[in-house]
Amino acid sequence: MARPYQPSLLRALHGATALLVPLAWLSGLLIYSRYDGRWGRLPWTPGGNWIDIHGTLGVLLWPLALLFALYAISLGRRRLHQPANAVALGALAVALISGKLMEEDWLRDGQLQHGVYGLHLLAWLAIALAVLWHLGAVLARGGLPLARSMLSLRLRQGDRPGDWPRQLLEHLRRAG
Ligand code: HEM
Repeated sequence: MARPYQPSLLRALHGATALLVPLAWLSGLLIYSRYDGRWGRLPWTPGGNWIDIHGTLGVLLWPLALLFALYAISLGRRRLHQPANAVALGALAVALISGKLMEEDWLRDGQLQHGVYGLHLLAWLAIALAVLWHLGAVLARGGLPLARSMLSLRLRQGDRPGDWPRQLLEHLRRAG
């Protein structure tokens, strides 16, 4: 079988997203443990302003996830037919939108009753399950070579960052 290859624009957007999502998830866990804890707490949470850190990760993720989603529904459309890929993107969208609708002081003030916060907690759980499913599906479909193709730094002729505008224009021309 030919060695799988992922377009460099996909790898850039996917890689940055896949780096920030676990950090946002972990900082969310620390916040939950310190300010909520209705279903249990971690035995220990490191000191730090985790609400601000989590908010900053959210601010960074927003534009990135928007570009990634635009890529996925246009140039990457074929890959989105894989249910696990689509669900990972959907869970990310719900997490980001519900997070954006929250107010920073709710948890500091002990206001845990807001529906949007409940949705954000569900999205936190969903994203963990979705990413596990996504990874499992990638490994089941193409094994380690497929998983590695998303992390590889190899660039083919005609797929360097300088080629991205041409790739986008070609896609628009074909779609139009
Ligand atoms: C952490 C959060 C992650 C999210 C939100 C995510 C999301 C996605 C999405 C939406 C796609 C489809 C892109 C498109 O339509 O063009 C995709 C593809 C892919 N992802 Fe992830 N991903 C994550 C982590 C990972 C990790 C850690 C790996 C492992 C290296 C990985 C490997 C892949 C591969 C190989 C594909 C292409 C699969 C195919 O051709 O169907 N992903 N990912």
